[in-house]
Amino acid sequence: MLFFNETFNGNGRTCGTCHPFTGNFTLNAEDIAALPNDDPLFVAEFNPNLSSNFENPTLMRQFGLIVENLDGFGDLANVFTMRGIPHTLGLRLSIDSRDGPRTGWSGDGAPGDGTLRSFAIGAVIQHFPLSTNRQAGVDFRLPTEDELDAMEAFQLSLGRQEELALPLPLKGVVALRGQEIFNDGALGKCSACHFNAGANANPAILGPGAGNLNFNTGVADLPDQPADLTGELVPPDDGLGSPGDGTFNTPTLVEAADTSPFFHDNSVETIEGAVAFYNSDAFNNSPSGQVLVRATGSGIDLEVTQVIAVAAFLRVINALENIRQSLELLDQSTWIEASKDMRRDLLTQAVHETDDAIMVLTGGGLHPAAVTHLRAALKLTQEVLHKHSKRGALIQQAKAEHEQARGKLIETP
Ligand code: HEC
Ligand code: HEC
Repeated sequence: MLFFNETFNGNGRTCGTCHPFTGNFTLNAEDIAALPNDDPLFVAEFNPNLSSNFENPTLMRQFGLIVENLDGFGDLANVFTMRGIPHTLGLRLSIDSRDGPRTGWSGDGAPGDGTLRSFAIGAVIQHFPLSTNRQAGVDFRLPTEDELDAMEAFQLSLGRQEELALPLPLKGVVALRGQEIFNDGALGKCSACHFNAGANANPAILGPGAGNLNFNTGVADLPDQPADLTGELVPPDDGLGSPGDGTFNTPTLVEAADTSPFFHDNSVETIEGAVAFYNSDAFNNSPSGQVLVRATGSGIDLEVTQVIAVAAFLRVINALENIRQSLELLDQSTWIEASKDMRRDLLTQAVHETDDAIMVLTGGGLHPAAVTHLRAALKLTQEVLHKHSKRGALIQQAKAEHEQARGKLIETP
């Protein structure tokens, strides 16, 4: 309730303004274009107290970028970074590291102790104020201890609660090969940092308990970044710390394929492009790229078929996660404790998850037979949303279609 409804006496935004449950708890430019002009996301466009130095409406609307003052609120006109909105799924698996909690794109998003619990305080101060004076008690109120506990518990409940255990017995030959390349220490080298396609480092390479680490992979050095092409002021983002050390926090990849665009600055629109980034000079000349060269004798150099295969793997594990979530949501909608509104929200979310599974598979030309089952599941779920009779039977049918779709993607016991 707090995450989606509480404005903390501020400008009208809630956490759900930027992290909506109907869009994987993130927003991209397409989602933003679908919002009405009086949505509180756009406060900078209609609240005169927030018209300068609060958001950049051009970059928000074109590329889904949000102003973040990670280095303090001292010089709002010049000291800020433009960052994409990360999803808040699988947080239980993507925050802890041997150096303490790592939240936000550079791992130093939260003020104070850096925990997810504290992150909400930083988010209120950054995104919720009535004016850029940002005076607590005047421009917003700070969350209470109980509210922080509740919002943390809610966020930890979102998405996956368990890591995958790679390799998975995938059925598609392209995705299966993509998984091999991903895990191959001489080829894709991805699993060094994204162990089990998650956000944590491979303990065999980076030490036991390494957890969710930061790296300078050179994303910020890419030429022709979309935001830079607009001519708007986009100061360099120097990553963790103040002044920054150029490193960014490793995101989880199971949730990636349906949460484009990619990287902290939304610089790459497609999952294929995000994989291909690792072939670039920007990566191979970066501090992390150079570490790979020294450790393995070479950087990352995938042929286009291999890039597509790795992306196909990321698409398929994302579709499997969407199916898992859809099944869970369909089940939850049948709980007797669920109120009418809750049931509607759960089913609406299931519709979105199912839709995402279809989108990530069709976007890569993958598993047409699974897509047919998913389309059937989608239709049935939409029917349940609008119907009052025979709901239980329709939900059972929708679940069966999901199971069939899953059976096309992976060997099931
Ligand atoms: C105006 C949009 C906006 C609003 C409103 C907003 N966020 Fe965010 N959120 C972002 C952006 C942008 C980032 C990336 C921040 C960074 O990297 O420094 C982010 C990052 C996060 C993260 C880090 C996720 C990770 O993987 O490390 C969490 C957690 C989070 N927000 C929770 C919240 C909570 C809780 C609220 C409400 C109190 C909230 N957000 C309100 C835009 C928003
Ligand atoms: C040295 C560690 C490292 C290696 C190796 C690595 N990554 Fe990453 N990955 C990162 C970091 C750090 C980020 C965030 C970078 C940023 O936003 O600036 C990231 C981001 C990503 C993203 C964007 C996710 C999102 O939600 O925006 C994708 C996709 C990705 N990596 C895929 C791969 C693939 C595929 C490989 C192997 C070809 C790979 N990574 C190898 C550390 C690594």
